[in-house]
Amino acid sequence: MDLHVRLDGRGDLSGQIYRQVRTAILAGLLPAGQPLPPTRELAGDLGIARNTVSMAYDRLVAEGFLVARSGVGTFVADGLAQDRPGGDDGDQVALAPRPIWDTMSAATDLSAADAEFDFRPGIPDASLFPYAAWRRVTTCQLRTTAVGSGAHIAAAGHPPLRAAIARHVAVARGVPAGVDDVVVTSGSQQAVDLLARVLLSPGDVVAVEDPGYPLPRKLLTSSGFDVVPVPVDGEGLVVDALPDAARLVYVTPSHQFPLGTSMSLGRRLALLEWARRAGALIVEDDYDSEFRFAGRPFEPLAGLGAAGHVAYVGSFSKTLLPTLRLGFVVAPRSLRDAMHKAKQLLDWHTAVPPQAALAELINEGLFARHLKAMRRVYARRHHLVTSLLRRDFAGVLEPVPSLVGLHVTALLTDPAADDVQLAARARSAGVEVLPLSPLAVAHPVRGLALGYGAIAEDRIPGGLIRLRAGL
Ligand SMILES: Cc1ncc(COP(=O)(O)O)c(C=O)c1O
Repeated sequence: MDLHVRLDGRGDLSGQIYRQVRTAILAGLLPAGQPLPPTRELAGDLGIARNTVSMAYDRLVAEGFLVARSGVGTFVADGLAQDRPGGDDGDQVALAPRPIWDTMSAATDLSAADAEFDFRPGIPDASLFPYAAWRRVTTCQLRTTAVGSGAHIAAAGHPPLRAAIARHVAVARGVPAGVDDVVVTSGSQQAVDLLARVLLSPGDVVAVEDPGYPLPRKLLTSSGFDVVPVPVDGEGLVVDALPDAARLVYVTPSHQFPLGTSMSLGRRLALLEWARRAGALIVEDDYDSEFRFAGRPFEPLAGLGAAGHVAYVGSFSKTLLPTLRLGFVVAPRSLRDAMHKAKQLLDWHTAVPPQAALAELINEGLFARHLKAMRRVYARRHHLVTSLLRRDFAGVLEPVPSLVGLHVTALLTDPAADDVQLAARARSAGVEVLPLSPLAVAHPVRGLALGYGAIAEDRIPGGLIRLRAGL
C-alpha cells in the first residue's frame, strides 16, 4: 500500500514523517504487521534524502512503533492501535442526519441469519442459481465491445436487455411493452424511487398497503411524502379506503406482501377506475408471480388497460438473485423522458456487464428453462409447507390461501398471541420466520410469513416440527 505523507515546508522533515506514521498506527489505519515502504522508495516518492526517512523509521523502531526485520523490511508492531478506526474527530462538530432517520429501523442485514431452519420469506434458493450458464454468458459478453467500451450507455439500460424484458413481460404477463418502454433499474426498489421522484412533489400524499412491504413505505417517507397506510382484506387493497388526495399508490396485486392474497378482479378494476378518477399513478410491484403453482395467472393491472396510470415494476431478485440488483419498470409513456433523466442523475445507468449477461440468458432461452425448473422445486416446497401447516398447526395458525410466490403466510388464531415473541422463541430454537405485526402500521395483524426459497425440501418437516414445539 502507498503511504501518504504530507510534508509542510522544509523544516524537520524527519519529525513530520515520524509524527504522521505514529498517528496512523495509533488510529489503526496502519494495522499490526503492515509493511512500510522501503526507505529508498518513500524518499524517492517524497523527493527527500533517504537518510531523512531512515531517521524517522529508526526513531519509530526505537520507541516500539515499528519492528525492523533485517533483510526483510520494516513492519508495524503489534498491539498499538487505540480503538479509533477512521481517525480522530478532534474538535470537529459531529454532523447529524435529518431527524427522519432516527425513526427508521436499522437497515436489515439479510446476510446475517445463519439459522438451522431458514424460513425467511422472499429469498430464492441461491444453490440452484444457474451458475454455469451465468459464467458462460458473462464471459461471452465481456468479450464484446458493448461491455468493454469506455463510455456510459443510455440511462434506460442495455438495449438488448430492454428488448428481452419487453418481450418477456408481453409474452409471459400480457403487459404491452416495447423496448422503449423499459427502464432497467437497480432492483424494484430503485424503480419506486424513480417513479416517485419524477411524479411527486415534497408533501404529496401517497398510499401503501398495510400491512405491506416496508421498504417502499420507508423510502417514500424518507423522501418527504405523506405516506398513508391503507388496509388490505381478503380481496387485496381496500380501494374505498384510499385517500382522495393520493397521487401514487404502491401495491402488490399478484401476491400481496406479506399476506399472500391475490387482488380480486373486482378490486383490480376498481383500483384502475380510482386511478383514472384521481389522476394518480398505480405502482404495481409484480415481484414473484413467475412462481405460480396452479390456477390461471392473474391479469396484471398493467394488462387491464389504463396504461397511462400504471407503472409495472419487476425484479430478478426472486427469479435469479437479489445480489444482482436487477429490476425494471414499464412506466406510462408520459413519464418516460423524466424517468431517463432521473435515472441518469441517480447512477448514470445500471452496471452493464450483468445487464448484458442477463439479456443473453433470456435470449438463449436459459432464463425460461431456469424458471421452469425453479417453479417445480418451489411448487413442491409450497405444497409441503402448506399441507404441514394445515395438518400440524390447526387451531394455532391459519394459512392464507395462496398459489404463488416464495412464501406462505399464516395468521395466528389466538388474538392475544404475540407473533414477535413467537418468532423470537423460534429463533432461539434455530428456526427463522417473519412475524407480521411489525409490517403493519395502522391495521394490526398477527401471524407468521414462512418462506421456502432458502430451505431445502427435506429440511422443511424438521423445521416445522421445531417451530410447532415452540408455539
Ligand atoms: C414485495 C417485494 N417487492 C420487491 C422485492 C424485491 O426488491 P428488489 O428488486 O429491490 O430486490 C421484494 C424482495 O424482498 C419484495 O418482498
